[in-house]
Amino acid sequence: MGAAIELTGISKRFPGVVANDRVSLTVEEGEIHAICGENGAGKSTLMKILYGMLMADEGRMVVGGKEVRFRSPSDAIDLGIGMVHQHFMLADQFTVLENVILGDEPTRSLGRIDFKKARAHLDEVSKSYGLTLEADELVENLSVGERQRVEIIKVLYRGAKILILDEPTAVLVPQEVEDLFRNLRELKKSGATILFIDHKLQEILAIADTITVLRQGRTVATVKPKDVTAADLAELMVGSELPTPTKVGSTVTDRVAVEVRGVTVLDADERPVVDDVSFEVHHGEILGIAGVEGNGQAELVDALVGTRTVSRGQVLLKGEDATNWNVRRRREAGLAYVPQDRQREGLLLVAPLWENVALGHQTRPPFVKGIWFDRKGARARTEEVRRDFDVRTPNIEVTAHSLSGGNQQKLVVGREMASEPEIFIAAHPTRGIDVGAQAQVWEDLRQARAAGMATVLVSADLEEIIGMSDTIVVMLRGKIVARLDPDTVTPRDLGSYMTGAHLPKEAG
Ligand SMILES: Nc1ncnc2c1ncn2[C@@H]1O[C@H](COP(=O)(O)OP(=O)(O)O)[C@@H](O)[C@H]1O
Ligand SMILES: [Mg+2]
Repeated sequence: MGAAIELTGISKRFPGVVANDRVSLTVEEGEIHAICGENGAGKSTLMKILYGMLMADEGRMVVGGKEVRFRSPSDAIDLGIGMVHQHFMLADQFTVLENVILGDEPTRSLGRIDFKKARAHLDEVSKSYGLTLEADELVENLSVGERQRVEIIKVLYRGAKILILDEPTAVLVPQEVEDLFRNLRELKKSGATILFIDHKLQEILAIADTITVLRQGRTVATVKPKDVTAADLAELMVGSELPTPTKVGSTVTDRVAVEVRGVTVLDADERPVVDDVSFEVHHGEILGIAGVEGNGQAELVDALVGTRTVSRGQVLLKGEDATNWNVRRRREAGLAYVPQDRQREGLLLVAPLWENVALGHQTRPPFVKGIWFDRKGARARTEEVRRDFDVRTPNIEVTAHSLSGGNQQKLVVGREMASEPEIFIAAHPTRGIDVGAQAQVWEDLRQARAAGMATVLVSADLEEIIGMSDTIVVMLRGKIVARLDPDTVTPRDLGSYMTGAHLPKEAG
């Protein structure tokens, strides 16, 4: 078997960025080839070039032994290359069959769609690739995993033998990832070649036959999974050793920064989603809140920052009863926060980056001079955040919308940390960002902790919770069901408290 694809010296520049810098990539026929790298490494750009969506500035592409030059995706499709994008492009109100044939309908006389023929072809494709789907189900009734399967079938239906999947696991829960991997292995067995973008190391090692690592637009290595560890891969991705979340010593003081007393938050049906929760966070302390998502952490964070009403109990900030304070007042008292949903709560997507960095901080320096909003100050601060948190963008005048998810997250975390808060409420601060940026956030948290910042850290990343926290509490069904010592607890233990497999020993 020969190479299905050979790319040599591919370069692509965008204003201010070299997205691909003389990249080379060889994909053997019938293999699963993973492309990995940090956010902004140039993975999507390279795949879009291969799919004819973007034209390379330089370089050679050889597909099936022949040099090609694609002017549009239809040229790529003609050569059997198909792409499943990061964001699905399905019509919800249509059935699976209608979605699959959309744009490629077999017609009978007078241009009428030949559904019988389409259905037969769909059946044949589903069967030969072992992908099951209900052809007449409406897409809106499908789970995310099933929608993704529709996208894959749609590509196969058009005769693709080379499949490109751009971060397909980003939207899936672990169970769905397993299903996807099973499907991909089946596809491979029936002769497909698969290009697969991912940045989760364990997933890559589990599925790939070959791995190509991109860093800052360049190919840094092509390796076999059996020859590398997850740590090796991470090192290749970031160019240095894998950073781990750790803290050194204790900086916990005896001054209480946040006190939560018997706080209860009710949902629309008057059921407690946060149920009589109490804890204290001292200056210089990181309190980690662990829990399976949906056990009240998000609502607790809202109650702490002032975006949700507390039904019973009190929130005290630096000794003052802040239970009924609005967000502005809490911010002015020295609180900063990273919201769970950065797109909805944390950013004005249509506004430029520098306005976003001023967001929530407009009333204090460097954003005001006298009584006026200080654009110069805001821009200078934004440049700082951009540099310190490695926000990849051509300039700070672009809208937040144009940043990738990871870069949006870095902007929000950077903005909040740059205000040098005394109290920091961080919901999943490192979610969706690459290892390099994660390490930056951890380092900033450590430094701020040493300087006396009190942190409430909500995270689904158990390594992060254990590594960074001075104290861990576990939330389950709105209650705190355990208080654990991060120096002795294992991720496994923590997991069983989170699911309730442990009987709570110390309820708080
Ligand atoms: N259409 C575009 N216009 C300007 N810059 C872009 C565009 N697409 C990507 N970039 C930039 O090119 C770099 C590589 O992006 P991308 O290929 O999306 O990376 P990855 O998929 O590895 O995260 C990033 O710095 C990104 O901001
Ligand atoms: Mg991408």
